[in-house]
Amino acid sequence: MTASPRRILIGVAWPYANGEQHIGHIAGAYLPPDIFARFQRMAGNDVLMVSGSDTHGTPVTVKADEEGVTPKDIVERYHPLFIESYLKLGLTFDLFTHTDTRNHWDVTHDLFLRHLDKGYIYTDREQQLYDPKADRFLPDRYVEGTCPRCGFESARGDQCDRCGAIYNQIELGNPRSKITGNTDLEVRETEHFYLDLGKLNEPLLQWASSGKEHWRTTVRNFTVAQLEKRELRGRAITRDISWGITIPVAGYETKRIYVWYDAVIGYLSASKEWAALHGEPEAWRQWWDAESATDARAYYFIGKDNIPFHSIIWPAMLIGYGGLNLPHDVPANEYLNMKGRKFSKSRGTMISIRGVLERYQPDAWRYALTSMAPETADVDFTWDDFVERVNNELIANWGNLVNRTLSFAYKRFNAEVPVGNPFGEAEQRLLDGIREGFDRVGALYSACRFKAAVAELNRLSQTANQFVTDTAPFALIKTDPEAAATVVRAVLQAIAWLNTMWAPILPHAAQSVHEMLGFDGLLFGRQFVQHVDDAHGRHLVLRYDHAGAIGTWQPVELPAGQPLSTPQALFIKLEPGTAEKEAAALAEPQPAPEA
Ligand code: MF3
Ligand code: ZN
Repeated sequence: MTASPRRILIGVAWPYANGEQHIGHIAGAYLPPDIFARFQRMAGNDVLMVSGSDTHGTPVTVKADEEGVTPKDIVERYHPLFIESYLKLGLTFDLFTHTDTRNHWDVTHDLFLRHLDKGYIYTDREQQLYDPKADRFLPDRYVEGTCPRCGFESARGDQCDRCGAIYNQIELGNPRSKITGNTDLEVRETEHFYLDLGKLNEPLLQWASSGKEHWRTTVRNFTVAQLEKRELRGRAITRDISWGITIPVAGYETKRIYVWYDAVIGYLSASKEWAALHGEPEAWRQWWDAESATDARAYYFIGKDNIPFHSIIWPAMLIGYGGLNLPHDVPANEYLNMKGRKFSKSRGTMISIRGVLERYQPDAWRYALTSMAPETADVDFTWDDFVERVNNELIANWGNLVNRTLSFAYKRFNAEVPVGNPFGEAEQRLLDGIREGFDRVGALYSACRFKAAVAELNRLSQTANQFVTDTAPFALIKTDPEAAATVVRAVLQAIAWLNTMWAPILPHAAQSVHEMLGFDGLLFGRQFVQHVDDAHGRHLVLRYDHAGAIGTWQPVELPAGQPLSTPQALFIKLEPGTAEKEAAALAEPQPAPEA
């Protein structure tokens, strides 16, 4: 598509390693970037997709406290489970690592010291809630109270789960300790480091108010409105807590860096870790260096509660540091809810992605979660809807086209692409329409409009199905075998092209279709898991090797006479009663995952 390859950095929200991920997380922030990455690679661009487990802060320590285990135990339980699900679902992270590595600590310290040196970090004393019964400060998730903005009564110390507001914990109404339940809290003074967002308000506003026409309206409006108020103030980036990255300044040994300051740095540190593992330690600069990587674009895929951290705080940190590329786009999604409630690891109702991948095909989820994606508004997930989309859309349309055409060609045309006559007007019209899909669907993928891409692909697949119905090759073969052969060759060619366009969403099915059509080679590269030793210990990473992948974003010709391989059903049809069975199981208490 592009003459010279463009570098595409894809940052994916770092999941807290404090519980399993549910299908809402996957639909919101994990599957879309993989579709985008696969498309960009097919289009010939150089993709670097990174993320990892977010291992620090109170989300992890609260969970550890509840179970009487260490935060490290919690991380070591969930991090491998994320990797297991991503492998099964086919998420092609160039690197999925975590934040408790020597490299990540070093990169975080480097940013902290540079910010401090350049005057973007200062120390101050502030009032914080203190629980005398527990004899400790109550940072972030250790305290709950009423949201100062929307009045939600279970808002956390650092962010409201209902409206997404971020504030200072002292602004909470009726605060109570999550440790002891104490509502009789003291306010004590403590010293912390602050990121001087006030100083960065103007440069941020300048950056956000031009050239952001491609941003989703909600993200752009929110960001610009916040910045236009010119009310950004210093924000504490350290905490009175013992789990987290140390402060690289003497005298602060009892405090740690705030999890959000270190987590966003993960995008940079993981790029560096990837480069080192790749054997080219400086290669990360091709995506990050503002001076040399002028053509590079950085995309951050997140859920809406993460917007302020990616459209304001992380860009502020990057501007403060200097010389690094800012986000090109922040395609945040809304929520996929369970009957109107937000899926929440910490608050009950959930359908774990790992669980459903044990029972259903990965591409069934990839299809369903993309076609129902909460791109512009919250969406309610129901099992009925899932079954409907898989059986009556995916299987009835694309699956049916592939299955009936390939079995027919295999059986009746000697297991090869038939020759027939030169294409007539009808065949030409079908193929012209489908060829145009490369521009149209490509533009939708490029614009992160995945739901619209599915709709367009369904429409195109339907034109091919309609063509089969209209030309009825199954009947035609009895009266005019040459004409039937022509029709079948045209439909097989249409399938080959459609398959290429479906591939970013349905990579597993695409590989099968590719092989059934008699092509060799792998459309995509290979995922693999590796243990990495560093000065901090050993950690597990998920990687992706694109070498040898042959999938390209163009209409490849299907040669007449090409031998076909044995056709196999692409998708497994969901049995009647599936939705009822799943909905009933969901009402039961969910077993905790094995430690
Ligand atoms: N751990 C955070 C969450 O689950 C997301 C962090 S995104 C990051 O909401 F970039 F900051 F790491
Ligand atoms: Zn709120």
